[in-house]
Amino acid sequence: MGDYRDGGEISIEDPGKPLSLLVKWINEAKESGVVEPNAMSLATVDSSGAPRGRMVLLKFLEGEEIGFFTNLESDKAVEILDCGSVAATMWWPQMERQGRMEGTAYQMDRSQVQDYHLSRARNSRIAAWASDQSSQMESKDDLSRRFAEFESKFDGEEVPLPPYWGGFRITVNRVEYWSGRPNRLHERIALERDGDSWSQRRLYP
Ligand SMILES: Cc1cc2nc3c(=O)[nH]c(=O)nc-3n(C[C@H](O)[C@H](O)[C@H](O)COP(=O)(O)O)c2cc1C
Repeated sequence: MGDYRDGGEISIEDPGKPLSLLVKWINEAKESGVVEPNAMSLATVDSSGAPRGRMVLLKFLEGEEIGFFTNLESDKAVEILDCGSVAATMWWPQMERQGRMEGTAYQMDRSQVQDYHLSRARNSRIAAWASDQSSQMESKDDLSRRFAEFESKFDGEEVPLPPYWGGFRITVNRVEYWSGRPNRLHERIALERDGDSWSQRRLYP
């Protein structure tokens, strides 16, 4: 099976729009019914210099920036606030395509976080209050107990934005597209920020 899947030829019309192909690939993954087409592995660097990775959902993409939402007291947030260097990787198995983004993360404006928060289902907003993300839980029941507490606290009202919930934007400095091609002649194109412009290179797979 592996040899017959084909991510298609990669051609970058305008390296100055480094995330255009990412938008196209995410849309094509959505149209093809890929589960969680926005999922990406996000790598941060901890205070000892060690890399740490986990999945998050890409929820923002504009110009040369991507973004995601999270708890601002989580490990990933603490790591980013200490060292903004991050790497994000997306892989769509059915499409035989990978996207790699590297750059610098910074905290999103509260107004942008607020807009996103308001767009979410009520249960997701309550869950944002209930999870003390990345902290130790004393008992397995703590999360459902906290969820129920916030559910009754906000009963009949809008669920406000928790002060400890937010987002990060990543300004990308390097983007790489990988496409699986027949006979292992896979394609890679790397785009790199070069001062005010972007350069493009084809790499061996
Ligand atoms: C597919 C998938 C998507 C996820 N999306 C998010 C997300 O958008 N934001 C988030 O905070 N955690 C998300 N998580 C949970 C994280 O992977 C992680 O467990 C959590 O954020 C705590 O990470 P940390 O302790 O490194 O901060 C997701 C997990 C999976 C499997």
